[in-house]
Amino acid sequence: MSVYETVIRRRTIRRFKQTPLSDDLLKRIVNAGRLAPSSANLQPIEYVVIDKPPFVEKVFATLKWAGYISPEGDPPLGERPVAYLAILINNKKSSGCCQRDAAAAIENMILVALEEDVGSCWLGSIDRDTLQNILKLPEYIIIDSVLALGYSNETPAIERLEDSVKYWKDKEGTLHVPKRDLGDVLFYNEYLK
Ligand SMILES: Cc1cc2nc3c(=O)[nH]c(=O)nc-3n(C[C@H](O)[C@H](O)[C@H](O)COP(=O)(O)O)c2cc1C
Repeated sequence: MSVYETVIRRRTIRRFKQTPLSDDLLKRIVNAGRLAPSSANLQPIEYVVIDKPPFVEKVFATLKWAGYISPEGDPPLGERPVAYLAILINNKKSSGCCQRDAAAAIENMILVALEEDVGSCWLGSIDRDTLQNILKLPEYIIIDSVLALGYSNETPAIERLEDSVKYWKDKEGTLHVPKRDLGDVLFYNEYLK
């Protein structure tokens, strides 16, 4: 699969098979984050792998899923993520806000995971205080995002965006995700005619 094919195939996944992910694979995914572009090459992004069942359960309880269709979009019991990555900003390594560094690392990891058929959900809606305690993070470590991981157990479809950006589920439980058309987002040379 080419990078372009992987990008086109990628969708946010919220239903997962319960097959565990190997430590080698998790390390490969984090390595793809580690090597992402970094502003001033400060490299403030750090990672916690959460793969032990009691921790996986605790992390699940700190996350909010698919806000537009809640609670229908919550991963049901038996289809929950098998592992998570907490994506952290180490404030001792950075001079300010590093969300762009985090985003570059996260997208790298999402694509490398998918290359190995591992689906993911990027989560920003997190009970950060609770997760900070669960992961024993010192105060200079900031939780940017959580990446939920597992082999995919759903196949969302993209739709042309008409009136609403809100994704929906059909009667069969398939998630439909509206996307703006290329012609609506692409400009040449001048934005205004
Ligand atoms: C910064 C960011 C934060 C997100 N936070 C959440 C979240 O907290 N919960 C969730 O279920 N999905 C979350 N998502 C996933 C989006 O809902 C998803 O990307 C969007 O619906 C488009 O679907 P697609 O990824 O399949 O293109 C987040 C995505 C991004 C980029």
